[in-house]
Amino acid sequence: MTEPTLDPARTPARTLVPADAPVVLSVRGLVRHIPITRGIVFQRTVGQVQALDGVDLDLRRGETLGVVGESGCGKSTLARLLTAIDRPTAGEVTVLGEPISRLRGRELRAARRHIKLVFQDPYTSLDPRMTVESIVAEPLRIHHDVAPRAEHRRMVRELLELVGLNPDHAGRYPHQFSGGQRQRIGIARALALRPEILVCDEPVSALDVSVQAQIINLFASLQRELGVAYVFIAHNLSVVEHIADRVAVMYLGKFVEQGPAEQIYCASRHPYTRALLSAAPDPFDARRGDRIRLVGDVPSPINPPSGCRFRTRCWQARPSCADGVPPLAAPDPAHPEQLVACHLPLAPEGERPEVSTPLAPDEEPGASVEPDASAEPAASAGTAGPAGTAVPAGTAGPSGPGTRGGTDGPAGSSGPGTRGGTDAHGGPGSRGGPAVR
Ligand SMILES: Nc1ncnc2c1ncn2[C@@H]1O[C@H](COP(=O)(O)OP(=O)(O)OP(=O)(O)O)[C@@H](O)[C@H]1O
Ligand code: SF4
Ligand SMILES: [Mg+2]
Repeated sequence: MTEPTLDPARTPARTLVPADAPVVLSVRGLVRHIPITRGIVFQRTVGQVQALDGVDLDLRRGETLGVVGESGCGKSTLARLLTAIDRPTAGEVTVLGEPISRLRGRELRAARRHIKLVFQDPYTSLDPRMTVESIVAEPLRIHHDVAPRAEHRRMVRELLELVGLNPDHAGRYPHQFSGGQRQRIGIARALALRPEILVCDEPVSALDVSVQAQIINLFASLQRELGVAYVFIAHNLSVVEHIADRVAVMYLGKFVEQGPAEQIYCASRHPYTRALLSAAPDPFDARRGDRIRLVGDVPSPINPPSGCRFRTRCWQARPSCADGVPPLAAPDPAHPEQLVACHLPLAPEGERPEVSTPLAPDEEPGASVEPDASAEPAASAGTAGPAGTAVPAGTAGPSGPGTRGGTDGPAGSSGPGTRGGTDAHGGPGSRGGPAVR
């Protein structure tokens, strides 16, 4: 049994990316409102789904931005806009200095070389009728100016080796691989054109918990090797904990808190971030506080609450929270990189949520917050898990083996990866999140 090992280069206390590293991805004022139409012959617009509503971000070369939020908050919408699969209603995505949101045709195709999407589901994202070789080589065929066709086979073998797969299995079909191995195939395809940026839309959430840590380790080692930057999307903070340099927390189409990982995990100031943290299993220590039970569903993005969108579920809410949309701003000049969209930001550390003060607007259902009756004292937070909170923490923290390479195990006849060590079946993690080293 191998004890899971944390990657020392990826603990929240350490950031590898120099502050002067060039910005490879920049987003300003990104909005995506999806019209809702009625009628078959004469379609008329009867409303708008406000899937994304004004997102800004910057990503530096070799950096990882974790984007976290509940189901339906707009994460995949953001991923599609970043990779120019979808077009924004307003705002702009700039990749390597070039605005890409309005590009078309050849120019758009050229811009897409630099930013690629890794899909959530390795089972549906690979064409079952294509061999692994043709799947991974597909981007090279589309961008035929990247390398002559005669080179493709060699490049595919290199890519498979890079992601921890046996290059001799290039002639096999997706169904001959396990879920983790399929995700590696998807990563190899995404890397085929050597993009500067990968947008990873919940790349481990469809995988068995024992495989999640291996894939996260793979992402970390690829980043060290290639210098690629990631937007790493998850619905749970513990999944991105060991890979993110910075974290953005999303709620109902907006970033509500954004900052260096250390600040978010140890000194978050938005009530929603605090609730997500309290629901995530594990943790290094007691700093995440008592578990917080958010009551009620996420409101509809068709008709979001006025003012602060979180106010219908926020235990800190005051009537004034309905008045104005809180801007993302730095509440503490000592930490200018930590931005919080809240009229009443929490104190950075040690403050317990005021769970006994149900001050949310009483006209809204589910406006109170209940402390979990079974919550452990904060000092034992290392074993605390979610207990029926509205925050989807159930999938958060696999107790996985600590591994680096490609050993997520054969499925059917496919063999083990060539890159990884033999520790894939090491002991279960003692902490809540995926074990990474
Ligand atoms: N084509 C569409 N038509 C109508 N509504 C849509 C469409 N695409 C997304 N939405 C809505 O936009 C909101 C954001 O969707 P999105 O898929 O981005 O959420 P998500 O955060 O990725 O959720 P999940 O964690 O479940 O993947 C949701 O309310 C969703 O129902
Ligand atoms: S205190 Fe008010 S502004 Fe801050 S998150 Fe709660 S409802 Fe929103
Ligand atoms: Mg999604």
